[in-house]
Amino acid sequence: MRTKPKILKADKAAIASAIAVLEAGGLVALPTETVYGLAADATNGAAVARIFEAKGRPSFNPLICHISSLEMAERYGEFDEAARELAGAFWPGPLTIVVSLAQTSDAHDLVSAGLKTIGLRHPQGIAADLIEAFGRPLAAPSANRSGKISPTSADHVVDDLGGRVDLILDGGPCSVGVESTIVKVELGSVTLLREGGVTRQALEDVLGSKVAMHSGANIEAPGMMQSHYAPSASVRLNADTVEPNEALLAFGSELPKGWQSARATINLSETSDLLEAAARLYGALRALDASGARSIAVAPIPETGIGAAIKDRLRRAAAPRDA
Ligand code: TXA
Ligand code: MG
Repeated sequence: MRTKPKILKADKAAIASAIAVLEAGGLVALPTETVYGLAADATNGAAVARIFEAKGRPSFNPLICHISSLEMAERYGEFDEAARELAGAFWPGPLTIVVSLAQTSDAHDLVSAGLKTIGLRHPQGIAADLIEAFGRPLAAPSANRSGKISPTSADHVVDDLGGRVDLILDGGPCSVGVESTIVKVELGSVTLLREGGVTRQALEDVLGSKVAMHSGANIEAPGMMQSHYAPSASVRLNADTVEPNEALLAFGSELPKGWQSARATINLSETSDLLEAAARLYGALRALDASGARSIAVAPIPETGIGAAIKDRLRRAAAPRDA
């Protein structure tokens, strides 16, 4: 049994330690602009399998393959004009592009969970520096137990995964705070698999056409499963009152009736700034959950811009749970 994870400040000096762990087939939790990822060498099957084990994640769910350049991305996926346009506009950044797997890919089959496609993302900051120095892509889902709230600080990773990870790079709070937007590019057409850090409007502005939600019958992303991102407390959306023994997730200057009796209150943004709200969302859900409230009342939040991703996550947090 491993004990406590090693934690290092996420700076250039930590990169050599992270590479040593990755070379040995270990797991490194690392900050990205969206959420913390749980990373392994994408070409090492045993290392990738450890990700599924540490998360308790069903292995039919594919992982995002993180790369540090378009050139690296094109070794793993087939990029057409639309995919290149999106990469050019949003990388490095919070956009994952799902494309056909390239023949030259040496990513392990587990990364794509046997699909003929691969999800690629070029993250910002230390994560990209690490991938560049490592020279190979990193498979990395969010660094939380499967179905739970994604981590936006190193403390969240310690709470969720503790000794299941070999090294945690602490880069402070994530700036975006919700996961990447996922698009699928196939036969020149772009569909949305998951709302996230890049707004649908921003995608449409670059492509010059509407982007529809993907309408496949199959669940293509676990983030598309109904119950996901779930705290232990139940979640009640669009609350205009706070009921006994509830905690309050507020937004803006107007508070729901009965706010004085809330077991705990966190305001995502007193000035109704959606970017601030996204960055604070997961930390707030965790803190309200820890208050012991039976339910979290969530004030109305507009669905414009990144509000769409916030509402998507909250709806899944509020969805009926499996036993
Ligand atoms: O911001 C993010 O995307 C974070 C950071 C760490 O990069 N990662 C993240 O990973 O949220 P994860 O595994 O929690 O969610 C990735 C989603 C999953 O829902 C997965 O099913 C989907 O991406 N995905 C990955 N590869 C795919 C593929 N080939 N086809 C369809 N969906 C795919
Ligand atoms: Mg996740």
